Amino acid sequence: MKATLDHIGIAIGDLDTALRFYRDGLGLEVLPPEDVPSQKVRVHFLPLGESSLELLEATSEESPVGRFVQKRGPGIHHITLRVDDIRAALAHLQARGIRLIDDEPRAGAGGALVAFVHPSSTGGVLVELTQKA
Ligand code: CO
Repeated sequence: MKATLDHIGIAIGDLDTALRFYRDGLGLEVLPPEDVPSQKVRVHFLPLGESSLELLEATSEESPVGRFVQKRGPGIHHITLRVDDIRAALAHLQARGIRLIDDEPRAGAGGALVAFVHPSSTGGVLVELTQKA
């Protein structure tokens, strides 16, 4: 299996604080935000060459990202690895006893297919796999 770093997901508490650093401080481009209603989150992508940063802004405190920020504060939420065939990757991991959060890929931002691997099987990191549309 080949994988490349697609993006790093960062749960933000306050959009202004994040923009002051990434956009105004570092001068990074911020793409127009996209709402992912299924996750009650608004995502802001900042392209960084082959990969990007994904700022995750909860649109409800009851969302996974909202609960994460309440519990642990803002910070790195997940890393995302891009694979060519996400279904094959999930089957490969499952056959090796890796615990998955998503057995089946689902729709993520930008029409990509995504699936999460459980941190208990990765050494504590929430890992998202993605296959681009
Ligand atoms: Co992500």
